[in-house]
Amino acid sequence: MSNDPIQAHFLEAIQRAKAQALDVSITQPAEKFFARSHQLQYSYNFTWLTRPIIQYPQDIVAFQEVVSQVKPDLILETGIAHGGSLVLSASMLCLLDVMEGLDPRQSPRKVVGVDIDIRHHNRKALDQHPLRFKMELIEGSSIDPEIIHKVRSHADGVDLVLVSLDSNHTHDHVLAELNAYADLVSVGSYCIVFDTAIEDLPHGSFPKRPWDVGNNPKTAVYEWLKSHPEFEIDNNIDNKLLISVAPDGYLKRVR
Ligand SMILES: C[S@@+](CC[C@H](N)C(=O)[O-])C[C@H]1O[C@@H](n2cnc3c(N)ncnc32)[C@H](O)[C@@H]1O
Repeated sequence: MSNDPIQAHFLEAIQRAKAQALDVSITQPAEKFFARSHQLQYSYNFTWLTRPIIQYPQDIVAFQEVVSQVKPDLILETGIAHGGSLVLSASMLCLLDVMEGLDPRQSPRKVVGVDIDIRHHNRKALDQHPLRFKMELIEGSSIDPEIIHKVRSHADGVDLVLVSLDSNHTHDHVLAELNAYADLVSVGSYCIVFDTAIEDLPHGSFPKRPWDVGNNPKTAVYEWLKSHPEFEIDNNIDNKLLISVAPDGYLKRVR
């Protein structure tokens, strides 16, 4: 064990998380909570700096930890919806600037969001948001070659890139997104693939959607990782969250 008390704190936390992830007296209720809360559309209950964010609070905290650790210059996000996750990224980038003594309005840090349908009321609300200066909005499909080109051009010459995928949750779509954007992720940074939890929900949980067990972000992640050993699943995040829409979806670029 480390003599440095701060280091020791973090090492102990990793060990505790490992132990709790093996403890069925907490993992089973967590799974039950996730399944029922999903039916109740729990992820629609929250906002970030006034914009609805379609996430579980646990994943919002994990995102904060990842961004604070990586300190990205650019966050690329697919799936904007009401813009809550975009505002979360923008706010984190502003805080990173402040922590580094930079003026957020002058620093080049930004988040680029792409959505196939940016609804008028959402665009208007984002246009009026105080953190709008940190955001670029791109409308179109995240796997359309023209859109891929547009999104990727924002990464030209950028040192530290983080990618977050939260759009269409079919296997083929997520696989195409991973192939389109994951190579931009810097070593030490993450590609976060949301809604991998679909694989763990009962079959037929999404009657109006094309995704289901066997056809979702987790199946795409597993297939893609076979040929991308430069990425590894960060199990420590899963171990500590226990409740998450992105189990096995926090992919860290390790080489
Ligand atoms: C789950 S929501 C995103 C939630 C958002 N990231 C948040 O945390 O608040 C999914 C979004 O993906 C968008 N979408 C669906 N298919 C897409 C595609 N092919 N390309 C880009 N966005 C797409 C939808 O329009 C929808 O707004």
